[in-house]
Amino acid sequence: MFSKRIACIGAGYVGGPTMAVIAMKCPQYKVNVVDISEARIRAWQTENLPIYEPGLLDVVKAARGRNLFFSIDIRAAIRESEIIFVSVNTPTKTFGEGAGKAADLQYWEKVAREILHESTSAKIVIEKSTLPVKTAQTMENILNANGKKVPFEVISNPEFLAEGTAVKDLLEPDRVLIGSRETPTGLKARQEVVDIYANWVPLERILTSNVWSAELSKLVANAFLAQRISSINSISALCEKTDASVLEVSRAVGMDSRIGSRFLNASVGFGGSCFKKDILNLVYICEYYGLEEPARYWESVLRMNEYQESRFVRKMIREMFNTIVGKRIALFGFAFKADTSDTRESPAIYIARKLMEEKACVAITDPKALENARIDLAGCEENLDLVEDPYEAARGAHGIAVMTEWALYRSLDWEKIYKSMEKPAFLFDGRNLLDHERLFEIGFNVYPLGKSPLKHF
Ligand code: UDX
Ligand code: UDX
Repeated sequence: MFSKRIACIGAGYVGGPTMAVIAMKCPQYKVNVVDISEARIRAWQTENLPIYEPGLLDVVKAARGRNLFFSIDIRAAIRESEIIFVSVNTPTKTFGEGAGKAADLQYWEKVAREILHESTSAKIVIEKSTLPVKTAQTMENILNANGKKVPFEVISNPEFLAEGTAVKDLLEPDRVLIGSRETPTGLKARQEVVDIYANWVPLERILTSNVWSAELSKLVANAFLAQRISSINSISALCEKTDASVLEVSRAVGMDSRIGSRFLNASVGFGGSCFKKDILNLVYICEYYGLEEPARYWESVLRMNEYQESRFVRKMIREMFNTIVGKRIALFGFAFKADTSDTRESPAIYIARKLMEEKACVAITDPKALENARIDLAGCEENLDLVEDPYEAARGAHGIAVMTEWALYRSLDWEKIYKSMEKPAFLFDGRNLLDHERLFEIGFNVYPLGKSPLKHF
């Protein structure tokens, strides 16, 4: 009764929401989402999804049990589907050749072998994880090294969704990119994938390309986004020395329509599972092909990010009289950005650890990410206090540092918070989220990013 059967291996941040939206928009397809993690799959079957994304539960509920299914039976899903998305994680290698830079493709390869092993009919295999350029070729080599004569086509369909806005990004994408071999069978497979998205995405937004361009475009898009943040962050350091305001500079610069205004918010640093990993990947590929200058160029985007994080924590220590031993310091937000529970590569991890190295007592509050914070900071419990309530986190603290731009922090009763803190009370706004003038009037010593501080002494 279904016109296509689609499987997705990997029910994470990317696979889960993407398949939920496909299933909701295409009731004529059967969508099987599978994963090796039983706990994750079980969570997808409840009201308590394993990831937090605004609007996601409604999308899942619209299709779950109708044409959207979650299971751990990876083999059955492979056997019954003509189209298989692969969305398993591809972390940075931590060992051997390319450690610290190259992508660790062991899960990917394992999945490819499993697909090969189980398949008895033609399959279109779609790379959804971000992968180094030319991975599709490796996949093809593995899949076609079979005596079975089962035809496989490998398609690259990188995901551009951002966490916190995943559902919206999937429903109204700027573009969908589908890369394939430009052979007759490759083009036919490409069209099949175009047909899926064409159920809700206007055709002019569905771009097709060769498979290498599609793979590379994903890395480059993330590298460009990260580069903009590093650029404005480098300027934030200069603004703090010159009485310029990075907010005014980024507004003036961003209004140039050639530049554009987005991704020009100075911050304590960018985090997330993609930017660092993808840039390291790009650097590794450049080095592999002997392109030293391009490799160093992109590496500097990461160096600037590290500089921004360490600059922030150094400023905190310096301003709080060069010692924070025994002082309570509250971190407002731990997620790598607002509207997600994800803390992967969050600058807050680094900042929290540094503060603890200086023997501060770190109180962390976050509306969604405390569970992840507990895992990220395992082993540091002695100097750590994880609290739901921001007022509790701030009580008795010498300083507050805003790590994540949760909107709710704007509407807190800051007078009440001020009253409950040790004096002088310090506020370091790592996201330029709050009303600095008002906080200063209340009595805080306020340190925005890329702007002169407002101090009472
Ligand atoms: C993934 C990739 O990590 C990233 O490179 C890409 O940009 C997008 O897709 P994400 O969905 O955020 O990102 O990863 P994660 O949330 O870790 O989900 C991956 C899932 O794959 C996990 O649930 C894991 O259990 C599953 N998995 C992993 C398998 O099912 N089989 C494996 O062999 C390995
Ligand atoms: C990113 C890409 O945007 C997305 O297209 C890709 O598929 C995956 O990687 P994501 O990591 O979810 O998405 O979040 P993003 O909104 O890009 O933010 C990344 C980091 O940059 C966050 O820590 C965010 O707070 C920070 N950021 C973003 C800034 O510091 N300043 C900005 O102006 C924008």
